[in-house]
Amino acid sequence: MNAVELIRKKRGAAALTKQEMEFLVSGYVAGSIPDYQMSAFLMAVYFNGMTPDETAVFTDVMLHSGKIVDLSSIPGIKVDKHSTGGVGDKVSLILAPMVAACGVPVPMISGRGLGHTGGTLDKLESIPGFSTRCSIAEYEQIIREVGLVLIGQTEEIAPADKRMYALRDVTATVESVPLIAGSIMSKKLAEGIDALVLDVKTGNGAFMQNHEAAVALCSTLVAIGNNAGTSTLGFITDMNQPLGMMVGNWLEVVESVECLRGKNVPDLMEVTYVLGGAMVFLGGKAGSIEEGMNLCRSAIWSGKAYEKFVAIVKRQGGDASVLERPDAYPASLCRQEVKSRTAGYVTGFETMRIGILATELGAGRQRVDDVIDPKAGIVLKKKLGDKVERDETVAVIHTDREEALDRATRELTACIDIGPDVVSRRSCVHAIVDAEGVRSWAPAAQY
Ligand code: URA
Repeated sequence: MNAVELIRKKRGAAALTKQEMEFLVSGYVAGSIPDYQMSAFLMAVYFNGMTPDETAVFTDVMLHSGKIVDLSSIPGIKVDKHSTGGVGDKVSLILAPMVAACGVPVPMISGRGLGHTGGTLDKLESIPGFSTRCSIAEYEQIIREVGLVLIGQTEEIAPADKRMYALRDVTATVESVPLIAGSIMSKKLAEGIDALVLDVKTGNGAFMQNHEAAVALCSTLVAIGNNAGTSTLGFITDMNQPLGMMVGNWLEVVESVECLRGKNVPDLMEVTYVLGGAMVFLGGKAGSIEEGMNLCRSAIWSGKAYEKFVAIVKRQGGDASVLERPDAYPASLCRQEVKSRTAGYVTGFETMRIGILATELGAGRQRVDDVIDPKAGIVLKKKLGDKVERDETVAVIHTDREEALDRATRELTACIDIGPDVVSRRSCVHAIVDAEGVRSWAPAAQY
């Protein structure tokens, strides 16, 4: 067996066997298969896909590239959530402490920014001192003590995904159902959870731009989870505009803290409550998703969710004082207001372009070794359906890259469509997917 032969086989759209998959994945983790061969393989998968059985084998091989954590000695049903990624998607930062405050242990292993989307780890690391790295023993200890833990993949947990994720980010091989499924499910099944809630984004800022593609991905993920004995539910949620008002790592922490302290950012909190409610339901603390959503609302209003967030920030080495005094955080060297050229209503966002723009302002990576500027990003002042006056500020750019400002201002102006007609605001949660199939999401459903 050799890598060239296997790349050629996938290039010809044939399915790889378990042994062949193991050869590639373990060789890549061990360093005997270099990045350029893995990149070629990933591109072949991108174009030719994998069969459902092959995807399951790929996920299993990725999962077994590291250790599988056993959290059975910790009381309670351990539940996590994972999103396929979006722009301004800071749901995990609010949801993990909120669900933990409802008494459901949340062990969460997240990723970094990928393509045009932000990553929970990069957001958390914008809090001075916050460490997203730890050993499995410490991971277990933190969840025992605080009721949640927020870390990244280690060399021990799904190391194949850790390396492949970074490589996919810079080789335009992210938007592939089998690669996303292997990536997400290998991390999730390794972290010792009993149940999982998935957030598959759809729209012009998502990897899966249309509803059918999102349902196909969600169904694949739900089937892999349930077949592995982890109760898994998924939701299809909207990504036709950035979620919430802020895009960029520290900016998203600020917005999350505001929401944890009771601010209602409607689209962001709608998604957060539905996913959180489902986690509380799967975690056995509520008889339905709706009851779970009510418990989540109480966790926010009582202040318990915010207290949990402060506790985990401190436990993982972060400086919690910046959460109380965000003004003390260093500001970007440049802040540029973007003004509307016409009056009317916001009719659309070029969401993926906004994500790419935030990356170019310093909020993401264009190369594996790029260093992120935690302060960089974009603050929206308007959302879909909002009324806008001529010359009104619609967004503010934050960056240290003065040379990027003029182009970024033009780009961002072009990314926000303003027209004469009001567009109606839709619910952000479109559908639910479980072992029985896919249904429209209606909050009064049978759960
Ligand atoms: N999130 C992941 O963890 N992996 C992907 O491939 C996409 C989103």
